[in-house]
Amino acid sequence: MLCREHFEITLSLPNFPPASPGQFLQVRCSAPDAGSSAGSVAVPILRRPFSIGGLRRRTGVVEIDLLGRVVGPGTTWLSARRPGDKVDLLGPLGNCFSIPAPSDRALLIAGGIGLPPIRWFAEILHENSIPATAIFGAQTKDFIPLTLTQEPDPSGRPTRCVEEFACEEIDTIITTDDGSCGLHGRVTDALVCLLNTSDLPSRVYACGPEPMLRAVGEMCGAHGMPCELAMERVMACGMGTCQSCVLPVIDPTHDTGWRYALCCTEGPIFAAERIRWA
Ligand SMILES: Cc1cc2nc3c(=O)[nH]c(=O)nc-3n(C[C@H](O)[C@H](O)[C@H](O)COP(=O)(O)OP(=O)(O)OC[C@H]3O[C@@H](n4cnc5c(N)ncnc54)[C@H](O)[C@@H]3O)c2cc1C
Ligand code: FES
Repeated sequence: MLCREHFEITLSLPNFPPASPGQFLQVRCSAPDAGSSAGSVAVPILRRPFSIGGLRRRTGVVEIDLLGRVVGPGTTWLSARRPGDKVDLLGPLGNCFSIPAPSDRALLIAGGIGLPPIRWFAEILHENSIPATAIFGAQTKDFIPLTLTQEPDPSGRPTRCVEEFACEEIDTIITTDDGSCGLHGRVTDALVCLLNTSDLPSRVYACGPEPMLRAVGEMCGAHGMPCELAMERVMACGMGTCQSCVLPVIDPTHDTGWRYALCCTEGPIFAAERIRWA
């Protein structure tokens, strides 16, 4: 386990199509020969969506990192996989974050288990020499699945306090809801700190709980900053068939001014101004 309730697994595949941060896999969270239950323990029949949290291509093998939080039977099953176990998956699915221009300054915001696509995106930005700052927010210190190299600044000043981002030359602000680590507050409180400095980001990318995404999207809109959000829906198929993942989006070409988009195929990444919040 990485920290309380959080785990990481690395999948090894002989090959895998090109993929980019924001895309996800549909993972069968039960053994290939399992029925809908194994003894008294229910195992999910439908695949579960997981963001690609990292991808490395080596000779003859592609390694994919998944980072998960145990919330139910599927994630419990996945967290119990051991080296040599086989996992059945589909992917890569969905769209991806857009790569900023070299002159841009990116701000990466992750809340809770929204971390995986943001962590991989940090690597890609570094490879493309695009400067970035990161904000990571958790409920409490026990839920931070990152390696802290120093105590994060409680004033919300970005520092090289997180190994996973520091190795990509990215300064990070940590926030916790209970003040047990870093800035006492939410990622939006850290965003306010950054908006009050002269070092403003030119593009914002966020993944996390929906109320956080809405608040981040609205703050960016008020400051005229383009913002991309990784939206989550229950996804039974991940391929546009089951219609379980509908998301209302603004669409001026429709009589009503909005329509339902399928989060799995049109998303999961949406420009913040396209979302029609409930
Ligand atoms: C595109 C996408 C990428 C995701 N990436 C990750 C990831 O990298 N790591 C990770 O841990 N989780 C991720 N999730 C969420 C993950 O798919 C769910 O936590 C998982 O399906 C839960 O399965 P379960 O059987 O353990 O729990 P379940 O019993 O299915 O669900 C437990 C609880 O989680 C809620 N839930 C289930 N699925 C979702 C969902 N898609 N969105 C919001 N709430 C949900 C349920 O309503 C329920 O309250 C992602 C979801 C999406 C749509
Ligand atoms: S998950 Fe089935 S249509 Fe989107």
